[in-house]
Amino acid sequence: MLHVNLIIAKDPAEVGKLAADIFQDIVNAKPDCVLGLATGSTPLPLYRELIEREKAGKINFSQVRSANLDEYKGLSGDHPQSYRYFMQENLFNHISIDPANTIVPDGLAEDADAMCAAYERKIEAMGGVDIQLLGIGHDGHIGFNEPCDHFPVTTHEVELEEITREANKRFFNSIDEVPTAAYTMGIGTVMAARKVLLLATGKDKAEIVKQSFFGPVTPMVPASILQFHGNVTVIVDEAAASLIK
Ligand code: PGA
Repeated sequence: MLHVNLIIAKDPAEVGKLAADIFQDIVNAKPDCVLGLATGSTPLPLYRELIEREKAGKINFSQVRSANLDEYKGLSGDHPQSYRYFMQENLFNHISIDPANTIVPDGLAEDADAMCAAYERKIEAMGGVDIQLLGIGHDGHIGFNEPCDHFPVTTHEVELEEITREANKRFFNSIDEVPTAAYTMGIGTVMAARKVLLLATGKDKAEIVKQSFFGPVTPMVPASILQFHGNVTVIVDEAAASLIK
């Protein structure tokens, strides 16, 4: 039995609109809410929609706070491929959110363990995440929690799988430039969010969507743990839903 609320949208643009509806309701109900945010191609239609909606006066980000899922190890926030840069370019620079109220793991941290522990404390101090946005990797990763023999609990450093580096190399000049490690919220960090919203679009995500939400819960498919969350909405387009219809 499926324990997630599954919505099938026509295309990525409609996924973005439906996701924006959910964000809009949460921000309007709690103007200083904490948004857990994600990078990647999948959230872009949502971010564009949110920018438009604030311009149209339907949503206001001036008191909103945010915590991002992950960051490459070794990249500074002004590196064009860093996730901090991605968030500035694709969302923060275009909405009224105060940059001081947005956190992303520090890719240049000298003491990785201390930075990760401090990141958990910052999220706690914010009062926890109200809605955590997620994409999904072809291997079922959420954030940079890759398939492994257990579910990592808190924010931690990870070695990146080749499949993930390959998938992300399109943003770099070559695969050699793709960092080999990253920092990510743990599965426990994600599961502590009051609500989770996972988006998946495209035919290439159809198999992993099926495995994650219609297969067994296993750390070999990290997203499958979301079946145990209790307040998860999954919005997929028709292509990503093609194996579950
Ligand atoms: P994508 O990445 O949105 O670029 O497909 C998703 C992910 O790897 O989590």
